[in-house]
Amino acid sequence: MKKLSSEREGGSIYNKAKPIENLTNENFEDKIWERGNVTVIYGGQQGDEGKGKVTSQFKNNDRVAVSTGGGNAGHQAVCKNGEKIALHELPGGAVNEHAKIYIGQGRVVNIQGMYEEIKLLESKGYNMKGRTFVAGGAQIIFNNLQRKLDGIIEGLKSSKVGTTKKGIGPAYALKALRTGPNFNIVSNPNSDQLNEFMKVNSELFTGLDLEEIMNEVQEGKMLLQKMIDDGYIQIDHGNMLLNDAAHKGEKILVEHSQSSGLAIDGGNYPYCTSSDTTSNGVSSGLNLPEIHTNIIVTKAIKSKVGGGYFPTKFEKEKADEYRAYCKDEVGATSGRTRDVGYYDIVELRETLKKNKANILYITKYDLLDALGEHAKIGEKYINTKDGKTYTDSLPQGSEYENIQVEYSQDFDLSESIQGKKDKSELSQNYKDYTDHLIEVLGFDGNIVLGTGVKGEEYIVYK
Ligand code: IMP
Repeated sequence: MKKLSSEREGGSIYNKAKPIENLTNENFEDKIWERGNVTVIYGGQQGDEGKGKVTSQFKNNDRVAVSTGGGNAGHQAVCKNGEKIALHELPGGAVNEHAKIYIGQGRVVNIQGMYEEIKLLESKGYNMKGRTFVAGGAQIIFNNLQRKLDGIIEGLKSSKVGTTKKGIGPAYALKALRTGPNFNIVSNPNSDQLNEFMKVNSELFTGLDLEEIMNEVQEGKMLLQKMIDDGYIQIDHGNMLLNDAAHKGEKILVEHSQSSGLAIDGGNYPYCTSSDTTSNGVSSGLNLPEIHTNIIVTKAIKSKVGGGYFPTKFEKEKADEYRAYCKDEVGATSGRTRDVGYYDIVELRETLKKNKANILYITKYDLLDALGEHAKIGEKYINTKDGKTYTDSLPQGSEYENIQVEYSQDFDLSESIQGKKDKSELSQNYKDYTDHLIEVLGFDGNIVLGTGVKGEEYIVYK
């Protein structure tokens, strides 16, 4: 078996995660809360890693929070009546009725969408009154403002980012310009600031119509007031409510949006989103000084939507076969078909160097059988033109152009492991593949493998 140890000098030194001792399927949640009361779930690839599956394993948290991003991320969640729903503005963990919901100051929110999701959950039997808290600093997205700008900007570019067209980039841009409407400003009945901001925006950006914006803003103000009056949301004007809850020891589960590979800083710029989607972005998005457990989620078969590079991408025929087999590689938000490819160790090593991680959770391990006798992982990039190799940091921009991937040997993973819950149920082939993956990755924390869609279908491997 090929070893790459010599090439990853320092190997696991960049991620000194100590595994949680004696972690099992049975004590998974308890052991995590024993470490401390703030737990973060975040993505380690290019989004859509199946973070919702991991969220659904938590039942005892007092609060579920979202820190950055907005309706560009969608989560499939299973309601208490067993029905599946898609949430975008609210966290997937909103289906745990014991958890209060917190929308952080790093978020950009479509309030119409938020209202619809609150009503949707209410129609599924959830008591939504007094449950949702929104940081006053979170930005509000309007169709005639940020969403319109998103479409205009993408239309003008020849090399498209392939955004979700939800207005995410422009919402963060206006925030940075300090002309963006946030919950504090929009909920203030006597604010001249809101009118002034909108006037400035419409003068700055050709294509915007002040009258259209103001009509929508008035509707938005009324809807927001209605949500407050009806007791559906409370605004945390000082943005410190979650911080106080953390200090009091309440158990807080954070669903961080997208993935570290899409981060505005250090992601694949410009083919990235507009917020800090790394584990570090959680702290500023929610005002949390301390995080006790970080769970990094990756998918056994990597996927990607939108523009940018994907060196381990399957050839078309294999991709079609895989998507037909697994049936769900279509975006929950965008409805777009995702590109799919092999697990990419180079990307993940860089991610582990930059982010905090105690547990690496690999979802959809049960779908690796689609690769049959030819399962493998991408371990190294080589630039065929200048011979440069990449083992733990990614190329930038045009450096990607002559990249070829060096793969591991093939492993035979034809057998199904769907629904398995114990390491002892895995065949030697699966163990060899997993041990090899851990070895080349150089990760010392716990490894958990998802083996099915149900919350309880997973194996604590290490
Ligand atoms: P935006 O966040 O809508 O501006 O899109 C910027 C890039 O991030 C595009 O390539 C999107 O496809 C990608 N992106 C944004 N959110 C997600 C997500 O939740 N999953 C996967 N890709 C995403």
